[in-house]
Amino acid sequence: MVSNPTFPVIAIDGPTASGKGTVAQLVANHLGFHYLDSGALYRIVGLASLQNKIALDQGLALAEMTKSLRIEFKENNIYLDNQDITELIRTEEMGLRASAVGAVPEVRLALLSLQKSFLRAPGLVADGRDMATVIFPNAVLKVFLTASAKIRAERRFKQLKNKGISANIDILLSDLLARDERDTQRKDAPLLQAMDAHLLDTSEMDVEKAVQKVIFWYQKVSKEVGI
Ligand code: DC
Repeated sequence: MVSNPTFPVIAIDGPTASGKGTVAQLVANHLGFHYLDSGALYRIVGLASLQNKIALDQGLALAEMTKSLRIEFKENNIYLDNQDITELIRTEEMGLRASAVGAVPEVRLALLSLQKSFLRAPGLVADGRDMATVIFPNAVLKVFLTASAKIRAERRFKQLKNKGISANIDILLSDLLARDERDTQRKDAPLLQAMDAHLLDTSEMDVEKAVQKVIFWYQKVSKEVGI
C-alpha cells in the first residue's frame, strides 16, 4: 500500500451480496468520507442499455451512451435524467445486466473518470469489484470482503423478503454463482483480491463487527502513513 495519498481511499471489493455495500456505507458515515457505489453505476448503464435497446456486442454505442448519462447521487437516492431510479436498479435482473455490461471493456473505460471524480476531501470509501486493483490502486486500505455463496444467497433472500418481494432461494443461489463466474472470469478488470488487500470473510460475522474491523485497519494504517 502506498503512503501519503492526497486524500485517503478505502477500497472494498468483493462478490455480489457479500454485504460490502452496507459495510462501505457505514464506514464512510463513521469517518465522514464520501462513498462510491460503483456497482450502482454499472446497474445504471445496464438499465439505460435496455431502455435504449443497445445490445451487449455494441461496445462503442454502449460507451457513447454511458458518457452521455446524467447521473446524480442525492442523499440516499440515485437519479438518471432527473428520474429516481434508486429501486429500479436494485432488482436481480439489473444485477445480471450490470454484470453483463461490466464485461464490456468500452463501458469500463467510459466509467473510469466518473469513478475517479468521487475522490474528494476528506476521503473516499469505494466499493465494487476493481476498486483496489484498477480504479484506486493507491488506496491506503484495501479490503476484500466475502462470504460463502450459501450465506450470501440467504442474505439476499432476507433482503428481498423484507421488501415484500418473493424469491426462490435456489434460483437466487444459481444467479449469484453465475454472476460471480462472469465477474471473475472476464478479461478486463476481473473480480479478484488485490495482493495487498485484507481478506474479510463475513460468513460468521455481523455487519457491526465487519465495520469495526475495517475502521480498526484504517486507524492502524493512517497512523503508519501519518494521515
Ligand atoms: O456491486 P453490485 O452487485 O451492485 O454490482 C452489480 C454488477 O456490476 C456486478 O455483478 C458486476 C458489475 N460491477 C463491475 O463490473 N465493477 C464494479 N466495480 C462494480 C460492479
